[in-house]
Amino acid sequence: MTQHQDSGAAAMVAVEDVHRSFGSGPRAVHALRGVSFEVRRGELTALKGRSGSGKTTLLNLVGGLDVPSSGTVRIDGTALGGLDEPELLALRRDRIGFVFQSFGLIPVLTAAENVGVPMRLRGTPAREREERARTLLAMVGLAEHAAQRPEELSGGQQQRVAVARALANEPDLIIADEPTGQLDSGTGRSLMQLLRAVVRAEGVTALVATHDPALIELADRVVELRDGRIVDGGCA
Ligand SMILES: Nc1ncnc2c1ncn2[C@@H]1O[C@H](COP(=O)(O)OP(=O)(O)OP(=O)(O)O)[C@@H](O)[C@H]1O
Ligand SMILES: [Mg+2]
Repeated sequence: MTQHQDSGAAAMVAVEDVHRSFGSGPRAVHALRGVSFEVRRGELTALKGRSGSGKTTLLNLVGGLDVPSSGTVRIDGTALGGLDEPELLALRRDRIGFVFQSFGLIPVLTAAENVGVPMRLRGTPAREREERARTLLAMVGLAEHAAQRPEELSGGQQQRVAVARALANEPDLIIADEPTGQLDSGTGRSLMQLLRAVVRAEGVTALVATHDPALIELADRVVELRDGRIVDGGCA
């Protein structure tokens, strides 16, 4: 992971003059218009901005799920543009944990099996998988619920399972896209406090899109997007 290392190496995430347009010609949508910012190692950074400002587009680029029209995204000093598809896949699987607004759990699997999915993708043996799933579910306060399927869990519990799943492969970076968007404010706040605690305890870095002011308060740093541009907290 050192071969692409240069200027952004100190940061866990370094985004440099990133543009992302959808379509072309007069009907093109310019979702990101020259975005530069960094997420420092071990910090929880909140990405705020109103609907349509480009938050999801940016998170997808940082997570290697999408490719910028121009500009550079570096994860821990590695430029994603320099990776081929298998390398990108390995980076997403081994170094990044995703938490989505809609939880994204697999309905037919239990909480413990859902947490085990990323480890399964990496070929972790069953015994080790089960043990780590149990540890992670205990950490998010769901030790008693390991055998329940998503439909048998509340929204807040489902999102806790999603956080446990995101931690399964001991990622360096957690990317969460409005993880509390479908939760009531009290449940949302405790979910954010959980993320806050996880960042401290596990030494991971987190980038969390949210427009909830109570959640933004818990962040170490806030980056604000407006119409595809950073208006606060970015780099010059
Ligand atoms: N695949 C796509 N094709 C065309 N336009 C897109 C696509 N994805 C996003 N956009 C456009 O890019 C802009 C930014 O969208 P994005 O989803 O990043 O916003 P957001 O900040 O996440 O909003 P929300 O808070 O509602 O989730 C919007 O104008 C959206 O319509
Ligand atoms: Mg979005």
